[in-house]
Amino acid sequence: MASKTYTLDELAALAGVASAQVLEWEAKGWLGEPGSGAGGEPSYGFEQAERCVELGGRGIPRRICVVNQKGGVGKTTTAFTLAAALADMGRRVLAVDLDAQANLTTSFGFDPDELDLTSADLLTEEGLLPEEVILETGLEGVHAIPGDIKLAGVETRIQDVLMRERILQTKLEPLFERYDVIVFDCPPNLSRITINALTASNEVVVPIETQSYSIKAISDLTSTFQLLKEKLGHELKVWILPTKVDRRMKLAVDILDALDEGFPGQILDPIHIDSNLIRAPILCLPVTRAFPKTRSSLEYGRLARFLVLPDEERTQWMDLPLATRHDVIARMEQGHADLVPDAGTNAAETNDAETNDAETGDASAPGPNATGDASAKTAKPASGRRKGIASKH
Ligand SMILES: Nc1ncnc2c1ncn2[C@@H]1O[C@H](COP(=O)(O)OP(=O)(O)OP(=O)(O)O)[C@@H](O)[C@H]1O
Ligand SMILES: [Mg+2]
Repeated sequence: MASKTYTLDELAALAGVASAQVLEWEAKGWLGEPGSGAGGEPSYGFEQAERCVELGGRGIPRRICVVNQKGGVGKTTTAFTLAAALADMGRRVLAVDLDAQANLTTSFGFDPDELDLTSADLLTEEGLLPEEVILETGLEGVHAIPGDIKLAGVETRIQDVLMRERILQTKLEPLFERYDVIVFDCPPNLSRITINALTASNEVVVPIETQSYSIKAISDLTSTFQLLKEKLGHELKVWILPTKVDRRMKLAVDILDALDEGFPGQILDPIHIDSNLIRAPILCLPVTRAFPKTRSSLEYGRLARFLVLPDEERTQWMDLPLATRHDVIARMEQGHADLVPDAGTNAAETNDAETNDAETGDASAPGPNATGDASAKTAKPASGRRKGIASKH
């Protein structure tokens, strides 16, 4: 049986928008190529209809806080690349720099010393509206609230403010209609600024390096999330993102396994070590635009797609053990897109011939460089999920 198709008008009606709006989405490449109807008129499939409904029903944005009190773990890289990748998928994105180092601001090509107003002013000046602080970036679809060194003094200045944990949320709420996703880049501490970012968010991405102290850092963060829940009634969906993963190192693979066991359903597909992630911001571009075919570009692209999936689909994917997911991705990229993930698959048996150049990680290269790794060799059998220390989130 042929699957249902839709005319332009039907699609517009489904999404609750004018036909011209659908054509605009199409022109921007957000819907993919339409088919052709019996009389040559454009015809659209179910996925395009779904997408239009999603685009038409924009409401409260997903608010994603990129946080870890440990420095240099890839927070800014993640916030920057994710913002760009989400915009490439047609999302209207606001990226907020909350770190006095202002690395996110610099990544967008702004000089923090030249800016009049930044997130520091937004947090400390009661009458200041976010519109006065927001900048258009060189990346289409991405706006930014920049940061600067003044953020270092914010902590003491908001000490006596009533509801000081919710200043950011209150300030940004009127903007919610305008954005589909807001991404916060946090400083490497659990200051009140970080708490403000957390209360303004509904999801958290915690980048971590695969090192032995990472698990301790997550435990500290978990206590903070717990505290927010108890004291402020603020609940967060928590994702953990292994970054700079080098699977040639046994320790990294072991830690990935330990994380997957300790935090079932929360460990995102890792970002591997890739020097292109260091080179791209120097060009004031995210890796997805500077080096789109590289491994980290594909990985961040997948992360962006994952984060905007409906909850059920995210759960379905995350219910699979990390090693199985890794195997599925590797197979998809090797042209087996028809593979149906099976939670009972033992990745250790199916992914045994791969080698890896984690450093260069050029996804356009044939073979395992695209996604390949050695982890499957040491991966535990995918025997289903265990309850772990983080399962309460
Ligand atoms: N996957 C990766 N592979 C290689 N280098 C990376 C990767 N991710 C980030 N880096 C590099 O690691 C360094 C630290 O990254 P980043 O600035 O994103 O961390 P951060 O957590 O924001 O640091 P801080 O806590 O100081 O704000 C940067 O030089 C960045 O380019
Ligand atoms: Mg940073």
